[in-house]
Amino acid sequence: MNDSEARSRIRTQGTGEPAAGAPVVYEAFAKLNLGLWILGKRRDGYHEILTVYQSIDLSDELVFEDAPDGVIEVGSDRPDVPSGPANLAFQAAALLRDECDGRAGGVRVRIRKRIPSGAGLGGGSSDAAATLVALNERWALGLEAAVLERLGARIGSDVPFFVRGGTQAGRGRGEILEPLRALENAAFLLVLPDLQISTPWAFARAKIGLTRSGSAFSMVKLGIQDGDLRRLGAALGNDLEAAVAAEYPVIEEIHSFLESRGCAGVAMTGSGSGVFGVLGSLDQARAVRAEMSGKGWTAFLVRPSATGNRRLERAAGARGGPA
Ligand code: C5P
Repeated sequence: MNDSEARSRIRTQGTGEPAAGAPVVYEAFAKLNLGLWILGKRRDGYHEILTVYQSIDLSDELVFEDAPDGVIEVGSDRPDVPSGPANLAFQAAALLRDECDGRAGGVRVRIRKRIPSGAGLGGGSSDAAATLVALNERWALGLEAAVLERLGARIGSDVPFFVRGGTQAGRGRGEILEPLRALENAAFLLVLPDLQISTPWAFARAKIGLTRSGSAFSMVKLGIQDGDLRRLGAALGNDLEAAVAAEYPVIEEIHSFLESRGCAGVAMTGSGSGVFGVLGSLDQARAVRAEMSGKGWTAFLVRPSATGNRRLERAAGARGGPA
């Protein structure tokens, strides 16, 4: 943990005495979009989308410790991750505190960042969702998951997904969810160029209505329902990919590489820059990764995760490596 990290104190009440409570650690899992189709632009500036979210076992760790009542502090071990109000975990804590005024305490959140940013993996949103879940418990607020999801939607379109996690279809701006059967028999080779993409930038460049969105979305869902990776893979697509690849040809280069190595399907996740291949096992994914050496890309071997976040039982001070 970098102790020089900037911290932000937004409000102090009471005597400054922290409440009792041992630090706890949560894992916040990343996601892939198993397809993302844009139906149109909405009056509120967002885009109407169809997508399938899949939690994966690549995670950040968040340590929650007590702080004086009303105080929220957020810091991370990476200088490029914002501290304070610009961090979505901060926004989640502040929203919960303001919604439950009088019942919320204070909190210090330390984020051990493992999920790359600007890669379409939803790391910031997952941190926000884990914060909602953790503080609901820590502050004994007793809010239902549906309430946490509604609050999450005010922070980001995919935050409700991260509250639930697992395998979920998403509609609307991505916040209307439908649980799908857990995808158990897949492994993914996730490949990242040295490139961070801004989500609004990617959406602003997308060409709308060019793809067979509805039928591809249904095929992906059927593939998941039947555990049929070939069917799932053949239907994969991402309407943001062409726009991002037009500016950054490396996206197309990674896509072609993965396709040529026998992946059941290949697509960019979210607004990029991550591109993943669907494979039947981690061994197959490892074999494809071995052929990538010298290309300068970063690769992660990942598996589906059944949850979006979870509390770790070990002591908060213990150090853990990336997933
Ligand atoms: O909801 P979130 O804050 O994550 O969205 C970030 C940006 O991505 C939005 O401001 C918008 O520009 C774009 N976006 C969109 N349509 C969506 C989701 C995100 O246009 N369904």
